[in-house]
Amino acid sequence: MKDWYDWHQPYADPASPLSRRMRLVQRHIVDWLDERPELELTVVSACAGQGRDLLGVLAERPDAARVRATLIEYDPRNVAVAQAEAARLGVAVEARCADAGLLESYADAVPADLVLFAGVFGNIGDEDVRRSVAALPRLCAPGATVIWTRTRRAPDLTPAIRAWFAEAGFTETAFHAPEDVVFTVGVHRLTADPRPLDPPGRLFSFT
Ligand SMILES: C[S@@+](CC[C@H](N)C(=O)[O-])C[C@H]1O[C@@H](n2cnc3c(N)ncnc32)[C@H](O)[C@@H]1O
Repeated sequence: MKDWYDWHQPYADPASPLSRRMRLVQRHIVDWLDERPELELTVVSACAGQGRDLLGVLAERPDAARVRATLIEYDPRNVAVAQAEAARLGVAVEARCADAGLLESYADAVPADLVLFAGVFGNIGDEDVRRSVAALPRLCAPGATVIWTRTRRAPDLTPAIRAWFAEAGFTETAFHAPEDVVFTVGVHRLTADPRPLDPPGRLFSFT
């Protein structure tokens, strides 16, 4: 079993692949905020860990009060870290100790204008990835952006993931696959209509 608290240690090194991946995710969170003029925006992060990507951006944004976010994370130690950082920053971010693989865990947190799936698709089976991508319109507000990551370690599932996003009604707006690392960061915008969160059910389980 992985220790998901210790998993965050490489973030201490700004040159680590994990830190590089996070900076790409954060760049797209910044772009999304800059593109959206609304005074109220909703964010949900699945398997959010310590929420460093979103909280790191909000810490630098004078307009952080526009954002209401829910971080869904299973490990209570990571939830506590995220909640403490959100309180320190004074931002409207709730870290929720819940199973992000269950649709019912997203009640009251969605529809979201930004959905973060960072560090999820590399830890679940291919069929769970397919099911999760197909269900993403159920977490989305109209025109929502989804930022996702996935390793390209062989067999590379990212071509299939990109096709599944297209089938689910998303348009790709960015895709980063740096040659010297195995991580990938993808960004998709929902161009089809969102779908209701109900009925409840399971999207994925961590392997
Ligand atoms: C690979 S880490 C990614 C963390 C964060 N998104 C990031 O990129 O820094 C995966 C996280 O998912 C959490 N996790 C595992 N299974 C989960 C589940 N069923 N529901 C919610 N979180 C889960 C782990 O505790 C861990 O913090």
